[in-house]
Amino acid sequence: MCVNKEKFNFNKKTILITGGAGFIGSNLAFYIQNKFPQAKIVIFDCFRSEEKFSNGNLKSFGHYNNLIGFNGEVICGNINNRNDLKILDNYHFDVIFHQAAISDTRVYDQEEVIKTNLNSFYFFLEKTIQDNAKLIYASSAATYGSAKSPQSIGDEYPENPYGYSKYAMDNLAREYVSKNKNISIFGLRYFNVYGPNEFYKDKTASTVIQFGHQILGGKNPKLFHNSDKIFRDFIYIDDVINANILACSSSRSGVYNVGTSTPRSFLDIVNILQGLLGTSLDVDYIPNPYSGYQNYTCADISDSVKFLNFTPKFSLEEGIKSYIPEIKKIFLEFS
Ligand SMILES: NC(=O)c1ccc[n+]([C@@H]2O[C@H](COP(=O)([O-])OP(=O)(O)OC[C@H]3O[C@@H](n4cnc5c(N)ncnc54)[C@H](O)[C@@H]3O)[C@@H](O)[C@H]2O)c1
Repeated sequence: MCVNKEKFNFNKKTILITGGAGFIGSNLAFYIQNKFPQAKIVIFDCFRSEEKFSNGNLKSFGHYNNLIGFNGEVICGNINNRNDLKILDNYHFDVIFHQAAISDTRVYDQEEVIKTNLNSFYFFLEKTIQDNAKLIYASSAATYGSAKSPQSIGDEYPENPYGYSKYAMDNLAREYVSKNKNISIFGLRYFNVYGPNEFYKDKTASTVIQFGHQILGGKNPKLFHNSDKIFRDFIYIDDVINANILACSSSRSGVYNVGTSTPRSFLDIVNILQGLLGTSLDVDYIPNPYSGYQNYTCADISDSVKFLNFTPKFSLEEGIKSYIPEIKKIFLEFS
């Protein structure tokens, strides 16, 4: 029996969320805070500075606005800096959710991406052993590159430094599990996640909010040529949070896909948004400037269903519908 049917009880537990000022980490923090008021939650995040990568994007996207209403502890620190990490020695964690990373898939400085995402992982693996904690960390569908669909664990072809860094994290996690039989380590390969709190990811936020804001601004949504034939496995944030929570109740360490298994096209997103927003704007097709572009992703979630008890609840229609009020609110606030 790998899955305990009872949900993990976070009350009276000490939880670390790295990357907690970002999209997925902040959602996780609020979920646990709301459902388990006696949990002690510690966020570790470097937030954002004004530094940028050569692609023009910020070096990190954490934003305090994602944490308004969060009443746990917040530590501003960099996972690359051992001095910053030392403060975590003062805590004994029951669960570590490791989300902090260079999340921008289009950063090509190999040294910086691999150092940040992979080297820092050693610290959290060692801390997991030291505290006898559970470690749930963010891997990615980028590990698959353009591997054949459905993408399954064991068939990876990362096509950029980001995808490689997550692939190397998964290999390292497996090595730790094989050497330390009693530890619980779960790598969750998220597919394309969308939902509230992603706005501060700027241009790297999902196309759901980007198209939503183009439409609300009365502009024709801009799609790449052939977007009716580019399919991705888009997953709503609530399902991703659920996968993280469920992993805490499983006793089968491993790497798991977190997607819906129902790929949809970028044109579908625009059509759903237009339906919900009551518009019928034309679509502008533009050339796709990116090489190494994933044209078809579909998560094989058979292991996640079996060993995590994970079943996605939100179709693309349901996810976008639930997200619309936030898309409108942000639009009004920033336009
Ligand atoms: N959103 C997706 O579709 C998706 C898909 C696959 C994997 N992931 C992974 O999930 C995790 C969370 O992603 P997200 O979408 O919430 O992105 P995000 O950029 O909003 O969150 C990452 C957080 O990590 C922090 N961070 C970055 N570098 C840091 C450093 N050196 N030290 C401390 N903190 C640092 C950022 O400030 C940010 O708050 C990441 O590991 C990402 O690679 C996300």
